Amino acid sequence: MKHIILSALVIVVCIAEFHGVNAGGECGRASPEREAFKLAPCAMAAEDENASVSDRCCARIKQLGQNPSCLCAVMLSHTARSAGAKPEVAVTIPKRCNLADRPVGYKCGDYTLP
Ligand SMILES: *[C@@H]1O[C@H](CO)[C@@H](O)[C@H](O)[C@H]1NC(C)=O
Repeated sequence: MKHIILSALVIVVCIAEFHGVNAGGECGRASPEREAFKLAPCAMAAEDENASVSDRCCARIKQLGQNPSCLCAVMLSHTARSAGAKPEVAVTIPKRCNLADRPVGYKCGDYTLP
């Protein structure tokens, strides 16, 4: 009996993994917390409003910016915050990168993309 319960549990967990608990979330199948690691090159820029933004950071932001809700979720993620990113500073990065097609005015939680 124990084995049956265990097997059933494993199957349920596998199905949940496969379908992705985040399917339909801000970043689709990917978790914003996991996506946040891709913004490692932006760590300094997200902490200090006067820090220069690296090309690598801007490239990542540009990529994530294709999906503004994902970009916001990543900027406001626990991962980003615990890495020292300040949301109010992070939201200024697309502007500091001079991304022409950034989602200006997009609402990121309590913040608005400049
Ligand atoms: C950024 O620069 C402004 C103007 O020079 C200054 O007032 C502000 O304190 C600086 N911010 C940081 C985080 O160094």
